Amino acid sequence: MPYVSAKEMIQDAKNGKYAVGHFNLNNMESIRAYLLAAEEMKSPVILGVSGGTAKYMGGYKTIVATVTSFIDYLKISVPVALHVDHGTYEEVLDAIESGFSSVMFDGSALPIEENIEKTRYILGLCREKGISLECEVGAIGGEEDGVAKMGEYADPNECAKMAELGIDMLAAGIGNIHGKYPKDWPGLRFDILEEIQKATNGIPLVLHGGSEIPTDMIKKAISMGVCKINVNTECQIAFTQAVREYIEEGRDLVGKGFTPRALLAPGLEASKQVAIEKMQLFGSVNKA
Ligand code: 13P
Repeated sequence: MPYVSAKEMIQDAKNGKYAVGHFNLNNMESIRAYLLAAEEMKSPVILGVSGGTAKYMGGYKTIVATVTSFIDYLKISVPVALHVDHGTYEEVLDAIESGFSSVMFDGSALPIEENIEKTRYILGLCREKGISLECEVGAIGGEEDGVAKMGEYADPNECAKMAELGIDMLAAGIGNIHGKYPKDWPGLRFDILEEIQKATNGIPLVLHGGSEIPTDMIKKAISMGVCKINVNTECQIAFTQAVREYIEEGRDLVGKGFTPRALLAPGLEASKQVAIEKMQLFGSVNKA
């Protein structure tokens, strides 16, 4: 079964100068969409689970059982990591117990000492169980008039302290933002990215907020050490737009078009296509 930690796929990506896509699960359709996209593209893939998704989908144990059963049922042959996205301390412990193969502990809102202390404990558990670990350090806000227009910037010294612990990958803000980007967003700060890579001795870096970032910036970020890119919003928008069109065209009113499976099928297909395009952009095609 190709259910693995993300450690090796991220190291391979770092060495090969490409990035592995992390796609957030939202419902059962998204599991099928991203597994099929990865299999078709012969690409490794990381399936991300936020705390909200964990609650919605019946908890971490249910998600592990569902994803591993889907891998088996769909005869997926490419490496798949099941990863906690922005986990609290408690969520990460729960997911580790429940059989996740990879976790992100997000202690970025904590004082750096507490973030490091908790990370050290979680890292010990991850090493025992062969689970990969992503962490995030506190960010310097880029707010203007109460609106986070610029994204946030990580402090390279804090990044260095975190990297020294021996974690597998680091999420560090370089102006990236979750969700839609404002029209006047100034772009990624590659000077900060360079500083962080130097300060951390080349630790694999994670770029959150991967939706809507221009392709030239994505390529440059990958060339400078980013080897995991998180995407959610673009897939969600594609999903919902496809379902909206289905209803607006009255297809739910034809025959058995009203069944929930028929209604959500165009959403599954549309989000799968976005994932395929991202895998092509990130350079992970045929790397499985
Ligand atoms: P977007 O929703 O902006 O693509 O970001 C996803 C993400 O970073 C999840 O951690």
